[in-house]
Amino acid sequence: PSKKKFCFKAAKEHNIPEDLNKILENKVMETVSDLYYVNMSVVEMKCLDGADGEGIVAKSVSSHSDLIPGVYEGGLKIWECTFDLIDYFSEAEIQFTNKTVLDLGCGAGLLGIVALRGKAEKVHFQDYNSTVIDEITLSNVVANSINEGNRMGSGDDRRTSKPPSKRPKKVECLADVLAKCRFFSGGWSEVSQLLLSSNKPFSKYDVILTSETIYNPDYYSALHDTLAQLLDKNGCVYLAGKAHYFGVGGGIYLFEKFIVERNVFKTSIVKIIDKGLQRCIMEMAFK
Ligand SMILES: C[S@@+](CC[C@H](N)C(=O)[O-])C[C@H]1O[C@@H](n2cnc3c(N)ncnc32)[C@H](O)[C@@H]1O
Repeated sequence: PSKKKFCFKAAKEHNIPEDLNKILENKVMETVSDLYYVNMSVVEMKCLDGADGEGIVAKSVSSHSDLIPGVYEGGLKIWECTFDLIDYFSEAEIQFTNKTVLDLGCGAGLLGIVALRGKAEKVHFQDYNSTVIDEITLSNVVANSINEGNRMGSGDDRRTSKPPSKRPKKVECLADVLAKCRFFSGGWSEVSQLLLSSNKPFSKYDVILTSETIYNPDYYSALHDTLAQLLDKNGCVYLAGKAHYFGVGGGIYLFEKFIVERNVFKTSIVKIIDKGLQRCIMEMAFK
């Protein structure tokens, strides 16, 4: 990888709005793989109308690009390896119960949402772009918590015999789920520093989930060091990515080579999807 220096965005923790009803206001929800996600065209229209402080929607539209290095890193759409990883979790029966989980480069946040459903103790979401966290990730977490509160591990085993009081139940579930979540935007090193230096208690993650984050070799060092700084010593990274990203130059084998050279993690390619452009799932743990 080249030694190009980027000036990445500063890290920020996003507070969850007090009025939870506002989060889904003017949003249109769709479903995929049994998960809710916001319709992007509607979000894009709202963003072009001024809801996007970063201006990433306008920049992405005008440059016809899903990736603008250091400006917009792709979180507005759901990338296909997310679904590969979700499939892999069920095939390999990956357990999230009581785990602390980070969805790194989360975009829509579906991986973290699956971990919440699997009764994770905490799930933190990080995306490079604050607009993505505010307009997409947070909405998706809320929509899935409201609609499937009981599946999301709110720890509340209500009896079916209780009188139906739909609204308060939903709000209670949502608050329970949101209490397990934190949301961050900014560059990987910057977010890592924020977490490690903050006065809020921080314990390293048992599981880090990351999909389609290895496309740019210029970011490998920041990604590697962030994983090394934030993963618990007995933790595991589940990473999904394509064999090659045309035009950007990265790919899973190149990233694996980078990891081997750094000599901090052991890696194992646990699944190869050979439809069209090859995609892979890799597990990583400390040596
Ligand atoms: C191609 S998108 C994938 C989004 C999502 N994981 C998916 O599969 O749909 C890449 C993600 O990695 C994050 N990302 C990429 N480079 C980054 C960097 N240098 N620092 C922080 N985040 C970065 C982006 O914000 C984005 O969420």
